[in-house]
Amino acid sequence: MDLKRIDQIIDNHTAVDPGGYPPVIPILQDIQSEYRWLPEPALKHTAKRLRVPLVDLYGIATFYQSFRLTPPGEYQINLCMGTACHVEGAPLILGKLERKLGIKAGEVTTDGKFGLDEVRCVGCCALAPVVVIDEEYHSLKGRKDVGKIIDEKRKEDERVET
Ligand code: FES
Repeated sequence: MDLKRIDQIIDNHTAVDPGGYPPVIPILQDIQSEYRWLPEPALKHTAKRLRVPLVDLYGIATFYQSFRLTPPGEYQINLCMGTACHVEGAPLILGKLERKLGIKAGEVTTDGKFGLDEVRCVGCCALAPVVVIDEEYHSLKGRKDVGKIIDEKRKEDERVET
């Protein structure tokens, strides 16, 4: 792991007020943007650099649902379980996705290709039910073939690899 990149992120956030309390959450957000999750060496280095207890960083990372402490899948599928999506059948869709992938929400397939997570409202309730795959928003309204999204991603993946 390139700890220099972590240092750059920290420096960017602490340059304005070097003696002040460090903006921990934005720092963690930027680290996660860089790696797609918060690897332990990154957290340890950040704690050391900021002189804050490592347990505090873990406390923040586990409190906010947006932080990940495990690597995501190559394709990360975030199914919205907010109220509008729930009413429009998100729990049934979750079951279909879990069966299709052979994993439960919060897990990653053994080949590391697909991760599945439940998330809160993603802000486009009019499209409910909604799934977000790698920042792409898909409305599943009236779509019975939810598993096809996985097949499409697998095909995309095969095209890229060949
Ligand atoms: S509840 Fe799913 S997008 Fe708002």
